[in-house]
Amino acid sequence: DESERSERIDAALDALGDDVVILGHNYQRREIVEHADYIGDSYQLSKEAAAADAEYVIFGGVTFMAESADIITDDDQTVILPSMEASCPMAGMAEALQVDAAWAEITEAAPDEEIIPITYMNSYADLKAFTAEHGGAVCTSSNAHLVFEWALEKGDKVLFLPDKHLGENTAHRLGLEDETADWDPWDPEGKDAEEVAESDIILWDGYCQVHERFRDHHIESIREDHDDVNVVVHPECRREVVEAADVVGSTSTICEVVEEADPGDTWAIGTEIHLTNHLDRWHPEVEVVPLCGDACMDCNAMRQIDPNYLTWVLEELVAGRERNVIEVAPREKELAEVAMNRMLELQG
Ligand code: 13P
Ligand code: SF4
Repeated sequence: DESERSERIDAALDALGDDVVILGHNYQRREIVEHADYIGDSYQLSKEAAAADAEYVIFGGVTFMAESADIITDDDQTVILPSMEASCPMAGMAEALQVDAAWAEITEAAPDEEIIPITYMNSYADLKAFTAEHGGAVCTSSNAHLVFEWALEKGDKVLFLPDKHLGENTAHRLGLEDETADWDPWDPEGKDAEEVAESDIILWDGYCQVHERFRDHHIESIREDHDDVNVVVHPECRREVVEAADVVGSTSTICEVVEEADPGDTWAIGTEIHLTNHLDRWHPEVEVVPLCGDACMDCNAMRQIDPNYLTWVLEELVAGRERNVIEVAPREKELAEVAMNRMLELQG
């Protein structure tokens, strides 16, 4: 049962002492975040990992986050993902080989223009490495607009990967909504390279299967059901949802608006359901409601981190066995770090 499992986790952590740090993404189950030393968004957690100085970093999150932690941490730190099945489907929608082929087509269609790739943090390390090789940078949902501005100053066009909604929302924020085109690598009937190369912002046709399910009618009905409700959504949501919301931001921004809310305020949360449930527990003075029912916005990649797997990787470490190590290949690591550092320099 849960209390027995929790005791086993605590016993393993006692045995391992300062050698281990547990990171829990905001979307992890309660039983994981309750054991986490740090809870936060994907980027914050990687920084905590690097600062924590522990030999083992147990990442309660998905593969791309554990890879980013491996890229940012020192060589003598080992990153462990409790389940190898925890892979973000959106990151999987832009495979480096497929992007390479698209890049060749698009750059051939615009031979006199410089195209700068911008890759969202939610991507695999080999795509981040591709980005560095072609002069681009990584971004997160909170600094995408800064990275777009930098890229359009440096070059003529942007290829944004893999999340078309974050790309479109960022283009709107910058007043560039008329300059965008979608590149759908799966649709043989879709736009060809010549067509998309006419636009300044080329959006890869990836999406988050959790955030894409929020629709504007959810916002309409929540506003009908609750007086004075405020709506906050993640920028991976569709354009019309972002437009109808009061606030848009990363999972840390979502946490901040609830933390800063006045007692008695009502906030509807348009993101993965576990974060909504955590905020409801952490802030009883605020009325926190899910933007759409309670069960449908569950990320099945995040859900793979079962507390039994956390127990297993910890007990194996106590027994001297490293399980589920996430290690990015050296050359990819070096290049991916270049693309991530470009983003950091822009943030100042
Ligand atoms: P954040 O970087 O905002 O935590 O988002 C991660 C994620 O997976 C969003 O779906
Ligand atoms: Fe990927 Fe969406 Fe899950 Fe985030 S919520 S890990 S983007 S599938």
